[in-house]
Amino acid sequence: MSLSHESFTSPSRRAVVTAAGAAGLAATLAACGGSGDPGSDASGSGASDSGTASGSGSAKGSGKGSASPLAKTSDIPEGGGKVFKEQQVVVTQPTKGDFKAFTSTCTHQGCTVASVSGGTINCPCHGSKFSIEDGSVKHPPAMSPLESMKIEVSGDEIKLS
Ligand code: FES
Repeated sequence: MSLSHESFTSPSRRAVVTAAGAAGLAATLAACGGSGDPGSDASGSGASDSGTASGSGSAKGSGKGSASPLAKTSDIPEGGGKVFKEQQVVVTQPTKGDFKAFTSTCTHQGCTVASVSGGTINCPCHGSKFSIEDGSVKHPPAMSPLESMKIEVSGDEIKLS
């Protein structure tokens, strides 16, 4: 009698527990799947969009670079000069203590002048030469002088102004 009672109640109790467990698990999975995937996708793309926008905005704002010294006065030979390719500037010292600056872009066809020698700024592309004193054309084919640029000399430092 006791055996048959045990065998009757035991399966039914197990069935109830199993059913409740399965239902609970299914509910948990549904809840996770339903709210997890779309939610994370939406917040992910939203965050990256706003991040890109603010990043490019701040990059545009920080473009000032003329504060750092271009050269030391001792870098510029007297009666000659030096080409600063990165800054696109030629600095010359025609006479002692007198510094001049010009754009390094040749007025003929836009090459970057390469050297300063023999009292002229020299373009390697077609042989134009410009005066170290005022940028005027000393040798064609260029027709126009090099554009002069403003510099400041303070102490032994030369800066673009
Ligand atoms: S570009 Fe300089 S000489 Fe032609």
